[in-house]
Amino acid sequence: MSRPDLLMIGAWPQWDMDALERDYVVHRLWEAADPDAFLAKVGPSITAIGTRGDLTVPVSLMAKLPKLAIIACNGVGVDGIDLAAAKARGIRVTNTPGVLSEEVADVALYLMLGIARLVPQGDQHVRSGKWAKTGFPLATRMYDKRLGLIGIGGIGSAIARRAAAFGMPIAYHARKARPEINYKYYATAEELAANCDFLVAACTGGPGTAKLVNAKVLKALGPKGYFINVARGTVADEAALLDVLEKHEIAGAGLDVFLNEPNIDPRFFGLDNVVLQPHVGSATLETRQAMGQLTRDNLAAYFAGKPLLTEVA
Ligand code: 8YV
Repeated sequence: MSRPDLLMIGAWPQWDMDALERDYVVHRLWEAADPDAFLAKVGPSITAIGTRGDLTVPVSLMAKLPKLAIIACNGVGVDGIDLAAAKARGIRVTNTPGVLSEEVADVALYLMLGIARLVPQGDQHVRSGKWAKTGFPLATRMYDKRLGLIGIGGIGSAIARRAAAFGMPIAYHARKARPEINYKYYATAEELAANCDFLVAACTGGPGTAKLVNAKVLKALGPKGYFINVARGTVADEAALLDVLEKHEIAGAGLDVFLNEPNIDPRFFGLDNVVLQPHVGSATLETRQAMGQLTRDNLAAYFAGKPLLTEVA
């Protein structure tokens, strides 16, 4: 059988790219000097797209691929893919749920500890030689503080399990209460924020959660509250977040995701009450290998006529 034509929106790790080259004719969109001319040439033969959680697959791109049948996302977040347009054309979409939940939860916990216990500042204090000359400010305790989760899927649940070990009372906000979950439910993000010390966004991105953490929610969190985001930059009203951080109207933020990554708003760089990370929620060797394998297995299943492993509903 001839190898299917696969359009890659961005690079996957080398071990995945090597494996893909064996099984597909790989077309690298991100390397094309003239993407339109490139698509005009290869578009008609493309049957599959390989993308990532941090990239976009807009309807305008799909329109140039008349034979497109499957989009495999190497990531759990599919907010960058126009799902409605895909569905309307019967294009299947897969992602990587499960395999990265524990990893992203670890990042949420280290951001919480990092911002509350002043980890970057402590590191800087030691390196700069200030330790021998002056004291270090007292930090804020994390254990037994209240956790407020926005989103209680695989990642939110993994964060909750870890927070329980820190003796933290746990509450959550989601579109609907989940009766099988014992944590306290708040119907709005604002009520949750008013009743927690660490507000952690672990929900899906996209239009349904856009600017969910807005100025009102941040004000409700208050000057002793921390905001942690391991979801998507779009979940927060970033301008409002920058305002409250600059005015110290919340205690601080631990952020792994932003608008316009990696060219984020430079206002973040001047803040002394944030811990910033370059979207590394799933970025360990072990987890990226598992994500790549699952994504390639989904593609292979499709072309073998077998059921997809993790299709987006
Ligand atoms: C990565 C992510 O940015 O899974 C997601 O939705 O945002 C991250 O894991 C990326 O998708 C890795 O390829």
